[in-house]
Amino acid sequence: MSNFNLSEVVSALKKVLSEKEYSIPLHEPSFVGNEWKYVKECLDTGWVSSVGKYVDRFEEELAKYTGVKHAIAVVNGTAALQVCLKLVGVEQNDEVLVPTLTFVATANAVSYCGATPHFIDSEQSTLGIDPQKLDTYLKGIAKIRPEGCFNKKTGHRIKAVMPMHTFGHPVDLDSLVELCSRYRLELVEDAAESLGSFYKGRHTGNWGRASALSFNGNKVITTGGGGAILTNDDELGKLAKHLTTTARVQHKWSFEHDQVGFNYRMPNINAALGCAQLEALPNFIKNKRKLAEEYKRAFTRVDGVEFFTEPSFAQSNYWLNVLLLENKFSGQRDSLLKLTNSQGIMTRPAWKLMHELEIYKDSPKMDDLTTAENLEKCLINIPSSANLGMLNV
Ligand SMILES: Cc1ncc(COP(=O)(O)O)c(C=O)c1O
Repeated sequence: MSNFNLSEVVSALKKVLSEKEYSIPLHEPSFVGNEWKYVKECLDTGWVSSVGKYVDRFEEELAKYTGVKHAIAVVNGTAALQVCLKLVGVEQNDEVLVPTLTFVATANAVSYCGATPHFIDSEQSTLGIDPQKLDTYLKGIAKIRPEGCFNKKTGHRIKAVMPMHTFGHPVDLDSLVELCSRYRLELVEDAAESLGSFYKGRHTGNWGRASALSFNGNKVITTGGGGAILTNDDELGKLAKHLTTTARVQHKWSFEHDQVGFNYRMPNINAALGCAQLEALPNFIKNKRKLAEEYKRAFTRVDGVEFFTEPSFAQSNYWLNVLLLENKFSGQRDSLLKLTNSQGIMTRPAWKLMHELEIYKDSPKMDDLTTAENLEKCLINIPSSANLGMLNV
């Protein structure tokens, strides 16, 4: 029978983070390399906006790091997700299977396409979509027709599955790829949180036909605000660039647009910051993994709480570190949040589940979402910045 003592949790956190008088944020960016130099160059030359060398360079280096053929830099991760869904053919009234445990952008991107998010339960060992449970669920509700997979209950086409690599931990991608081919579904990865995370040795974002990254200020690297579309499909890569640059037909002076495109191109000044951050990324990941090791060690002897570690098939970036309280102590989650925040250690709960949001209460969902519901009750994020990994060297 384990006990749960809030002050023991705080002591373990302080052991890793060391005693500090100021507050420790959840995740702050580090600018320790060429950030000033590259951004200054943009200001000095005036190339701050939609033209300049850094966007091409950022895209090339991102593609190289992630091992994808094409990376297209855009204004943010949400826009990247929206365009990914459009690229794979999601249309008005389609349904897209997404985890209920996710940030609202995953579901919103589906809505922007006029489609409906359909909420799926999570797997305890990955925190992401549970492929086995999804398979059993689809056996009950899906009907395969020549035009694709249909939901027998709503009559709508289920066009895609969009797993999310939660807090940087990869989902079980092989199982999802196999499931998608059986049910004739497109796979789009919401890899917003998983730059630097690998599934069976290959970078996340390589399994879906299109995938999205985010470079928001709280992510592993930042461009201020920004995102990217990743794809190994040459046609989709070309289309992604075209759609995100107002679908303008190449011409020296004429403004010809052959589709209703988006003005989603990442500005040069943001890409300049991104190039410098990409140079630092391997070090950030090293430090973040070291911090995770220290947390793991510090929490092995703390009762009632577990430090979440990467799934067996993954090498994670540990974007946001996770503590899971034992179910029976979930009632004390908010007291722990209150205590840690009052002591200058920033912690926060997981997102409110999507199917519990008023805006998505009428969306289709699995009958049983208990794993996600329990995770939401028991999970807290703890400080995770890359610079914290260097504290106790
Ligand atoms: C899971 C997930 N999807 C999408 C996004 C959207 O990214 P952005 O904030 O760059 O629009 C984020 C992060 O913000 C996220 O965590």
